[in-house]
Amino acid sequence: MKKITIETIKRKKNKEKITMLTAYDYPTAEILDNAGIDILLVGDSLGMVVLGYEDTTKVTMEDMLHHTKAVSRGSNHSLIVADLPFLSYHLGITETIKNAGRLISEGNAHAVKLEGGITVLKQIHAITGAGIPVMGHIGLTPQSINQLGGYYIQGKSENDAKRLINEAIEIEKAGAFAIVLECIPTELAKKISESIKIPAIGIGAGPDCDGQVLVTHDLVGFYSRMVPKFVKQYANINQVIYNATQTYILDVKNKEFPSHDHMFHLSIEALKKLHDGGILDESI
Ligand code: KIV
Repeated sequence: MKKITIETIKRKKNKEKITMLTAYDYPTAEILDNAGIDILLVGDSLGMVVLGYEDTTKVTMEDMLHHTKAVSRGSNHSLIVADLPFLSYHLGITETIKNAGRLISEGNAHAVKLEGGITVLKQIHAITGAGIPVMGHIGLTPQSINQLGGYYIQGKSENDAKRLINEAIEIEKAGAFAIVLECIPTELAKKISESIKIPAIGIGAGPDCDGQVLVTHDLVGFYSRMVPKFVKQYANINQVIYNATQTYILDVKNKEFPSHDHMFHLSIEALKKLHDGGILDESI
C-alpha cells in the first residue's frame, strides 16, 4: 500500500471519499492501517474512551504524546493526525508552535488538528508557517463543552450557519489542509464542503462531506457510556470481551485452563535430577 500524504488527501476532494478513524494505541493503529484507512486521528477523545474522563478537557500534551508515539509505531501507510489538547494552543504563539512541533518530532505525527474558528486563525497560520500541516475542526468542538453547554448540533440558526461557512473559508485561507465538520446539519455541511477547496471531513455532518470520521471505540462498540445518533456500530467488541472474560473465569475455576496445550514441562533428565537432588518430591 502507498503512503498517504497531505497531497494525497487534498487530491481526493471531489474524486474519492476520505476515510478517517481514531486510534490511540499500537494494535488498533496496526489493524486500521492494514485495513487501508486514509487517516489515523489520535483524537483527544482518548480522554473519554480510553482514560475514562467525563470530557476531553483533562487531556494533556503528555497524554497526546504517549498515545501518538504508540500509534505511529503501528502505522505504515496512513497519515497520522494528532490533536492539540485543551489549552495547548491558547497561551501564545511560541507555546503553540512548540506543542505542535512536539507532536511531530517526538510523537511522529504528520499533522496536527485544533478546534475552533476565527479565534484560532492566528495559531493555524503560525503552525503552518512552521512547516506543520494543520487540520481545522469546527461545529461541535468538544474542548469548548463548558461554553457550548452540551453536545448539541451546531449551525441551526441563520447567524450560526453563516458564521460556520465563513469560519471554514477563513481556516482554509489561514493554511489548513483539511477541516473536520462535527455535528452540523447535512444541508449546511454540504454548503460548507462546496465553499472550500480543502477537504471537509464530517462526523455527524451527513454524506456530502469529502470524507467521514468516527471514533473507533464507537464504531466497534467498545465504549457504551454515550453512543451519539450519528454513529453506525459495525461490531460489538464490548460483548466479545465480556463473553471471553466470563468463559476465562469459569475455565480457571473449573481447572480447565491452563490445559495441556498451554503448559511447559521439564525433560525426563531434568526431572530426574531435581528429584534425585531432593528438590522435587514427585517421583517420575
Ligand atoms: O478527538 C476526536 O476523536 C475528534 C473526532 C471526533 C473528530 O476530534
